[in-house]
Amino acid sequence: MGQTMRAIAVVPGEREVRLVEQPVPTLESPSDVKLRILEVGVCGTDREICSFEYGTPPAGSPHLVIGHESLGEVVEVGPKVEGFRPGDLVVPMVRRPCPHAHCRACRAGRQDFCFTGDIRERGIKEAHGFMTEFVVDDVGYMNLVPRGLREVAVLVEPLTIAEKALIQLWDLQERLPWDCPHTEPHGKGHCHTAVVLGAGPVGLLGAMAFVAQGFSTFVYSAEPENHWKVGLISSFGATFVSAQTHSIDKLRERVGNIDLAYEATGNSRVTFDLLRVLGTNGIFVMTGVPGHKGPTPVDTDGLMRSLVLKNQIILGTVNAGRDAFEGAIRDIGVFMSRWPDAVRALITGRHPLEAHRDLLLGTPSGVKNVISFKGQA
Ligand code: BGC
Ligand code: ZN
Repeated sequence: MGQTMRAIAVVPGEREVRLVEQPVPTLESPSDVKLRILEVGVCGTDREICSFEYGTPPAGSPHLVIGHESLGEVVEVGPKVEGFRPGDLVVPMVRRPCPHAHCRACRAGRQDFCFTGDIRERGIKEAHGFMTEFVVDDVGYMNLVPRGLREVAVLVEPLTIAEKALIQLWDLQERLPWDCPHTEPHGKGHCHTAVVLGAGPVGLLGAMAFVAQGFSTFVYSAEPENHWKVGLISSFGATFVSAQTHSIDKLRERVGNIDLAYEATGNSRVTFDLLRVLGTNGIFVMTGVPGHKGPTPVDTDGLMRSLVLKNQIILGTVNAGRDAFEGAIRDIGVFMSRWPDAVRALITGRHPLEAHRDLLLGTPSGVKNVISFKGQA
């Protein structure tokens, strides 16, 4: 065997999470690039994969190398690669297209809208991920990141969720006269109210993106009013509302017409409760993937009346295309120029590879925990 490297993997057959040795990948096609992985974020999806509720190893492999929120540095490029050089920072996309000729989405490079479901996702479904020292992949999946964002670029992938939501939101809301006359200097969200459900990394990054677009932004979450996240949230211009002191109806009274609701908890009960009070011409974006906990009663007459009589939209959204990655890279730059301390505060800790068990199997703490490979290669 050639050179090997360490990787964090789940072995579903043995119900194990452990370090494995993998061959160091080499360029296989002229358009491949090789990355040294610098940082990989840990998220709820990783924790679910590590409790064997989700995730599938590549065909023929007993294990799946996990990790999909990454930042790498180019170390080698194939002869056909243009625009990327050794030393460049990149964030790779997660999804790889399905093989079917009739899948118009995948054939158009929009595998985030794949029709067949036969996509692969690095670190999640049938393809090894990024919690390892080196990665090789086609340059077509790489997104260049400015050097100045090195410190926080691991947040790009989780931010793509809100960016993809925003791209769709503008398209959808343009069907009606949505802009107010004084929008121009403030961003397209100006004179609209956004409610973010959940104060984890997806919720907080989403809240920053909505504030940056001019929305009057509220974060509704289970933490108490004196939680440290409350100060963080107000430092970037959003307002925290605690679910401990505010029912959904009280939240609605406090914020007025909810133009945008952005779910970032995976809690379907709270989500459908909030849907009840979505405003006129409102859009409700769902991003979480709840585990099955059995049915809950919902007032279907009430929801349907509201959807119809208020011209509402419920939008489910998963994964991200290149446009959302580019939006995320641009916005992380905007966030860093406006609220550098708040962005830094989203990264709770940087941990060595050896800490993976606590991070993946223990109780999550803080916002975003990151596995850092610097100096370990
Ligand atoms: C990832 C997406 C992926 C989704 C479903 C999320 O955690 O960020 O890229 O499509 O999980 O597997
Ligand atoms: Zn497809």
